[in-house]
Amino acid sequence: MGEGILIGVAAAVGTPVYVYDAEKIRTQYAALRGALAGVPHRLHYSVKANANLAVLKLLRGLGAGADIVSGGELARALRAGFQGGDLVFSGVGKTERELEAALNAGVGLINLESHGEFQVLRRLARGRPAPVSVGLRINPDVTTETHPYTRTGQAGMKFGVPLDQVLPLARCVAAERDLVLTSVGMHLGSQIADGAPYRAGAERLASLVAELRAAGLDSLTSVDVGGGLGISYGRGEGLDPTVFAAAVTPLARATGLPLLIEPGRFLVGNAGYLLTRVLYHKRSGGREFLITDAGMNDLLRPSLYQAYHEIVVLAAAVGGVEAAAAADGGVADVVGPNCESGDFLALDRRLDGAGPGALLAVLGAGAYGFGMSFHYNSRPRSAEVLVDGGRYAVIREREGADDLMRGETVTPAWRDA
Ligand code: LLP
Repeated sequence: MGEGILIGVAAAVGTPVYVYDAEKIRTQYAALRGALAGVPHRLHYSVKANANLAVLKLLRGLGAGADIVSGGELARALRAGFQGGDLVFSGVGKTERELEAALNAGVGLINLESHGEFQVLRRLARGRPAPVSVGLRINPDVTTETHPYTRTGQAGMKFGVPLDQVLPLARCVAAERDLVLTSVGMHLGSQIADGAPYRAGAERLASLVAELRAAGLDSLTSVDVGGGLGISYGRGEGLDPTVFAAAVTPLARATGLPLLIEPGRFLVGNAGYLLTRVLYHKRSGGREFLITDAGMNDLLRPSLYQAYHEIVVLAAAVGGVEAAAAADGGVADVVGPNCESGDFLALDRRLDGAGPGALLAVLGAGAYGFGMSFHYNSRPRSAEVLVDGGRYAVIREREGADDLMRGETVTPAWRDA
């Protein structure tokens, strides 16, 4: 997408604004499907990466199913036009109400993560017209070299069924008339940049499938290898989809089962830009600061994971002394307007020309950007825009003060407790 379009959108819609490039999403989708073309597979887009309805509809139009983790994501997926059967329900803490909504919607696969969850589902499934399709998300005990907060496949984490508990739980599921065990799977973590963990996890899954079959449990119709494919944020490499494919396709061949994949970031991450304007330039204690109108409330990743996002200057400062000072080639911290010292988008970054008034684009903001934004300091959430070719559309209006206070009351309606 050209810089001119981004500048035009910022002028028309204001900042901060998230802008998504439809064509980039299509390209990523095609690259991943192409890499896996040698084996039967189904792609379920992980809604949490970017849950905007228009983005969901775009991916559905390409043929994707969806991977959901909450009742809210279920509602979004249905609103975007997905059928229940197109959905995989993952997540470590599904409530009874969410599971019931999933059953009512005819969700295609429910990935269980614990024995307790199995007991709840078994009760809810009783007497349903058709058996409920159940998967077991296992914890394969595979380490990934990603931020500790985005690792999930290691023993001792809250995610997945520990390896030694899988067979007993599978037997429990198989013994239920209203449940059918159709899948086993994993999700190793997120922003994974090499194939080795996938290969290790896939090998675990292959031996597990063999073990289940040897135990007479032969109802599987897919194996789920999760998501997690890393992308480049302007520093470091992403995961080449052909490397991912080479790591996981042996699993399909060994088991004769179609693969299920749940990518999020890979499809939408580099399709997104967060546009923000520099408000002020400041020098303090030998450091330079560019204070922007977007902050951790819009894009939490830098503050939460010390994540690096490349930033480019789209339109230089509107002039003045301050602008010249910031443009002299030094490094600056790009910081948000919130009352938190940990509120930053980038540290020690060289951004020539980025004085007050400059328009910046934070790259790699299409995944876990808007979806993790919040209302701290009572800042309304930003608008979202989809660009397709030479056209753009606002796909989420910028919030206002009413959105911040929805559901609140100045005068409590007291009741006896
Ligand atoms: N499947 C399951 C069960 C997941 O929990 C996730 C992500 C995915 C698929 C998709 O992962 P992806 O392909 O997008 O890596 N907020 C963090 C990422 C958290 C990911 C949580 N689970 C970040 O900003 O890096």
